[in-house]
Amino acid sequence: MNLTPKEIVSYLDQYVISQDDAKKTIALALRTRYRRMQLSKELQDEIMPKNILMIGSTGVGKTEISRRLAKMMKVPFIKVEASKYTEVGFVGRDVESMIRDLVVSAIAIVKAEKEEENKEKIQNYILNKIVEKLLPPLPNGASESKKDDYQTLLEATEKRVESGEMDDTTIELEVEKINIEFNDTNLPPEMAKVQESFSKVFSQMSKEDNKKELSIKDAKSVLKLEASARLLDSTNINTEALKRAEDGGIIFLDEIDKIAVSSKSQGRNDPSKEGVQRDLLPIVEGSSVTTKYGVINTDHILFIAAGAFHLTKPSDLIPELQGRFPLRVELESLTEDTLYKILTQTQHSLLEQYIALLSVENLKIIFEDDAIKSIAKLSHRANELNEDIGARRLHTVLEKVLEDISFNADEYKGEEFIITSELVHDKLDIVVEDNDLSRYIL
Ligand SMILES: Nc1ncnc2c1ncn2[C@@H]1O[C@H](COP(=O)(O)OP(=O)(O)OP(=O)(O)O)[C@@H](O)[C@H]1O
Ligand SMILES: [Mg+2]
Repeated sequence: MNLTPKEIVSYLDQYVISQDDAKKTIALALRTRYRRMQLSKELQDEIMPKNILMIGSTGVGKTEISRRLAKMMKVPFIKVEASKYTEVGFVGRDVESMIRDLVVSAIAIVKAEKEEENKEKIQNYILNKIVEKLLPPLPNGASESKKDDYQTLLEATEKRVESGEMDDTTIELEVEKINIEFNDTNLPPEMAKVQESFSKVFSQMSKEDNKKELSIKDAKSVLKLEASARLLDSTNINTEALKRAEDGGIIFLDEIDKIAVSSKSQGRNDPSKEGVQRDLLPIVEGSSVTTKYGVINTDHILFIAAGAFHLTKPSDLIPELQGRFPLRVELESLTEDTLYKILTQTQHSLLEQYIALLSVENLKIIFEDDAIKSIAKLSHRANELNEDIGARRLHTVLEKVLEDISFNADEYKGEEFIITSELVHDKLDIVVEDNDLSRYIL
């Protein structure tokens, strides 16, 4: 996680076009955390993260940026929708559960690392267990030559199991049920404890019918869980995970505008929205949250909030919450040129996806450059004439362009289709310019 801001931006550039301000701000925030971790403990405690508020209309890349960050980063990261939470006391998820989710994600990261470190141990454990089932042990007092033969056979079997050659063979395995875990982080820790003891009791009760016929392939994954439960120190993992979440955790709070209460439409609003905002205050500011893995302090968790703010404004959030998101970035709405670049310059762009999908039907699709330009142009036009739904418009427009080909693909097997600008205009001109039509179709 020691990428420089430039490196982070250039990674994001592969997937998200323009929106440079947002990318820069986020990259800087991430780097600041790295810098902080290099300082003395005393200074570390003083340096608080600066939370970010991303504002931009729908479909311009807010969630996409976070999605890509999540994939790239090895730090605990979760994306949650603010609208999903309810005020404490109401039925639903309370906001503290997002911190618990963050810890769970941290545990997954640390666990994966430990598994990687102990790869050989785990691998040996799995192999031993499987080979045990395949080869009955040698009787006591076997002659030396028998022992040698046995050893050779054992090694050969191990190789065959390891290479996957025997994956389809079935064996009978006692499946341990140590892994029943209710990962419903929605539960407060006291409840989670109760639930855990329940699951222990149940797994005791069902000890008898624990024998299962499994293919070696499945046995490998079952045994892998068992091996990591046995060989890895879970207390260690939990402590490390809590620390990682505390120091490096990032929570992406999407749809924050949905919990703002517009000053204009008083009365129609859900009163618990403000409650959720109030519940968020201590968490964003820094407080202690109890999880079933231990207590976590939220002081240094970075929050990135995002919202379209179509019906509400950032100033409709309660002032205390506004103040806790000091960095504001606006995402631009998408121009024709940006739309064109989204189609042509992103990794696994929408065009590539369609081409790949239709290649399954043995159909070859070629988009002429002019055609792509027309698609961008008409998408932009449709955004202007109706609601601006950003890059999502590309989906609906492309769907319309390829509709017939896609539906009748079976008739065109082995053929090649060249999508020209004329074809695009043929399909779309009437729809885009006719307000009523486009409202329904695009
Ligand atoms: N700047 C961009 N570059 C590349 N792709 C984009 C860009 N903006 C949007 N997209 C694409 O458009 C789709 C919707 O974008 P995204 O989910 O980020 O919207 P959003 O800004 O979160 O909107 P909302 O406020 O409705 O949640 C995604 O499939 C994404 O890949
Ligand atoms: Mg979104």
